Order: sequence, then structure tokens, then C-alpha cells
Amino acid sequence: MQNGQPYAVPIQGITGAPWMRGYQRLPLVKGFGKTQRIDNWWNQPAIMAAALGIAMIYTGLRVILLDGSIHYENHRVTSPIFSPDILHMFHITNHPGWMNSAMLILWIPFGFRGTCYYMRKVYHRTFLQNPTACLVAKPNINHGVGYSGERGVFIFNNIHRYMLYLAVIILSMKYYDVILTMRFNGSWGFSLGTLVLAFESFLLTMYVVSCHAFRHLFGGSLDQWRGGISTVAGWMFRFSSRHNASHNLWFWTSLTMVFLGDIFVLSVAEGVITDPRFIMG
Ligand code: FES
Repeated sequence: MQNGQPYAVPIQGITGAPWMRGYQRLPLVKGFGKTQRIDNWWNQPAIMAAALGIAMIYTGLRVILLDGSIHYENHRVTSPIFSPDILHMFHITNHPGWMNSAMLILWIPFGFRGTCYYMRKVYHRTFLQNPTACLVAKPNINHGVGYSGERGVFIFNNIHRYMLYLAVIILSMKYYDVILTMRFNGSWGFSLGTLVLAFESFLLTMYVVSCHAFRHLFGGSLDQWRGGISTVAGWMFRFSSRHNASHNLWFWTSLTMVFLGDIFVLSVAEGVITDPRFIMG
């Protein structure tokens, strides 16, 4: 039921009872998880729930309990989870022993991803089961809840555009960290760690640039892009629009790379693997 009416989809050219005009009833059976779909509809939400669960548990363990080996070679390469390492960057030494940079900075990527329009789809389908999936019955308790968008308890989602501004600052600091990986005792070069952090920053950039709020930032207030700065805004809008269609891809790849980057740094710092390098001069 939706607003007191059975589920329905709009069909052009169909007429009927006042509320059904232009709509056709869908064959939805009741009872949580019941459906007439014959495909493996649960695959995607199950994988997404598992991936998010693992990501949250890994982050919690790494930040709170296992926060050693977060960089190597005197901060030349820093783990993406702890980057930007603001405690080191701003020479903050008089902090409690249990504190690390991730504890101070992670609320920004968490807030940005947590209010992301794609993320809302993920958590509504996986954790809240509202809806469970297209044409799959959700739990009875959720029939009365409905979807309230950015109202009620979900009003915090309105801060997404502001989280975007903060995410852009964090992103620029990550590129600073990439440049740091190219400094070898006064010489320039690069190592595998450089490529790992650069790739992580690239994926994060694509996730930010394909964001709906980023797209609106450049295209939301202009009717046309002709001349001056508006030409650049139009180019940004079109670039963002093109990649916005793949926003889910950038969400998952950038998230995955944060953890792969952390495992890489941890492995090098612990001496499990080496970081091959090329140094100029
Ligand atoms: Fe996903 Fe903005 S980051 S919509």
C-alpha cells in the first residue's frame, strides 16, 4: 500500500477510476520477502549489506583497537583511513595517547557517504527493508512507515551539500599526501605507495565529481553556459552529469580502495611486503 492505495505504476493512455486514472495495479503479494519475481533479487542487497558491514567493522577495529602501522618511512606514505594525518600535519603532539587522526577526521567522509543519495538507496533496501526490492513485499511494519525523503528522522540528509564542501577539502589534502609520497630525503621519485594513494585519490575524485550535489553546484543556478566563468561551469556540469550515471560504481570502487590502501600500508609498515620505487637523481 502506498498512501492508502495499492501499488501502482503509471501507464500512458490508461483511464479509469479517479485515483487509478493513468495507473495499473501491480501483482504484488503480501508477506515479507514474498514475490512473483523468479530472479535472484536478494543477491545485490545481500552483497551490499555484507560489504557495508565488513567496512564498518574493519574501520572500527582499525581506528579504535588496531591503529598501529598507519604510515611508513616517517609519514612518507600514510594509510587512506588515517589520511589526512592532521595530528602529524599540524604537529599536534599534546593529545591523549589513544587519539589518532582518523578519530578527528572520519566524521567528514562518514557524513558525506552517509547522506549520499545512492547510499540512501542502499541502506533503505538493505538495513531498513523499506522497500525490500522492486516487486518484493517488505515487512508489514514498514507499510505504515512509508518513505518520507528528507523529513522526519532523515532530515539530517539535508546536510549533504555542506558535507560535499568539507569532502572537497579532505580530497585536496589527500592529493597533498600523494605529493608527500614522492619525496625521498630531498630527491623526487615515486613508489608503488604513490600509485596506490594516487589511484585512491582518483577514485575518490570521481565519486565527488559524480555527486548529485556537485552537479547541482555547477548547473543548478544557471540557464545557460555562455561566456566567462559560466563556460567552465557548463563544462563541469556536463562532465559531472556524464559520470553521475555511474555514481554507484564510483561509490563502491572508492570505498574499496580505501581499505586496499590501508592493507597495503599496513603490510609495508609491518615488513610483510616491500614498496618498490624509482628515485630521480
Ligand atoms: Fe552520492 Fe553526493 S556523494 S550523491
